[in-house]
Amino acid sequence: MQPVRCALAGHGMIGREHARILAAHPLADLAVICDTDPAAASGVPAGTRFTVDLDEALDTAGLDALWVCTPQQVHLPVVEAGMIRGLHVFCEKPFASSLGDADRMMELHESTTGSLVIGHTLRFDPNYVAVHQAVADGKLGEVVHVSARWNAPDYEGRIISGRTTVPQEMAIHDLDVMRWLVGDIERVYAEAAQQRVVGPGPDAAVATVRFASGAVGALDHNWILPFDSGLRSDHRLAVFGTRGSAYVETRDSPAVVFSADGLEHIHSGYYSYPNGVPYGALPSEDAFFLGRVRDGRPWPLALADARAALVAALAMDRSIEEGRPVDIAEFDG
Ligand SMILES: NC(=O)c1ccc[n+]([C@@H]2O[C@H](COP(=O)([O-])OP(=O)(O)OC[C@H]3O[C@@H](n4cnc5c(N)ncnc54)[C@H](O)[C@@H]3O)[C@@H](O)[C@H]2O)c1
Repeated sequence: MQPVRCALAGHGMIGREHARILAAHPLADLAVICDTDPAAASGVPAGTRFTVDLDEALDTAGLDALWVCTPQQVHLPVVEAGMIRGLHVFCEKPFASSLGDADRMMELHESTTGSLVIGHTLRFDPNYVAVHQAVADGKLGEVVHVSARWNAPDYEGRIISGRTTVPQEMAIHDLDVMRWLVGDIERVYAEAAQQRVVGPGPDAAVATVRFASGAVGALDHNWILPFDSGLRSDHRLAVFGTRGSAYVETRDSPAVVFSADGLEHIHSGYYSYPNGVPYGALPSEDAFFLGRVRDGRPWPLALADARAALVAALAMDRSIEEGRPVDIAEFDG
């Protein structure tokens, strides 16, 4: 198969991982990386050009695809620049920082020759996919209750606190998973801890969720795990139905190292590079997108569902601000 000629915008925390994955993937030709910060030129894979000028990057001859890894406040202009050039665009979650931006991106998907998908990585995590399959196959019966957690290390919180919120950055992953498993969300009620552990914004958010089906959900998320403690990530999903229950628990990684430096959990399942070969949910997502560019396979997350996850995250933020339960209908009438 002809390699997909790729550009990537935003060579920051997650953009660097996508770049590393693409540079090692036989179906990808990572031609150019753009970041408005010249310092982001460090660590660009060998053979890939770096520029601070987005238009210049996207005018690279023969491009097929664009990875958008900029902060969500600047998803729209970067996505638009790719879409009007007819590129296949992969945009990191969350869809955008506002519904107006998300709606404009959906219009571009309809009106340009380009195409757009939003990356919600848990849709490519084999553990979450297996639980979804069990629910879809009816093995759990009717889902009554679901709970989810994703806590991140404090160094990530320091980068993004104040720029975004725990609901829009972290809880949105699990809001999407919950909608995938249980269906539409009707109402959320959230509280946040504002102890300024890593920055100006709230450090943790918890919420209850009511689904249209009558089921209920619980979310808890933070970005304060002390990096020095050795624990880098803490995911959990539990689903309870009338005929069974299902769980994903990834706090305790299968690989653990004990040394004079203390105990270290090797966080291998999201992205790692055993023998130089990308492995994990993020590489699976990228490989799926590369395949889609060549054969048009359907992306497992409709734009309307990525938008609905954003609405639920914005509803959590409104609930935190106003101290009351928020109906999803407040956002779309
Ligand atoms: N899928 C996941 O698990 C996951 C994990 C982390 C972040 N994300 C998402 O990825 C996106 C980026 O987050 P991050 O943590 O990597 O941010 P980051 O701040 O580490 O990196 C963003 C980079 O974009 C650059 N940038 C800003 N404006 C630009 C522009 N107009 N053109 C080109 N480059 C520009 C910045 O200079 C920076 O280097 C966010 O939407 C975030 O929610 C997803």
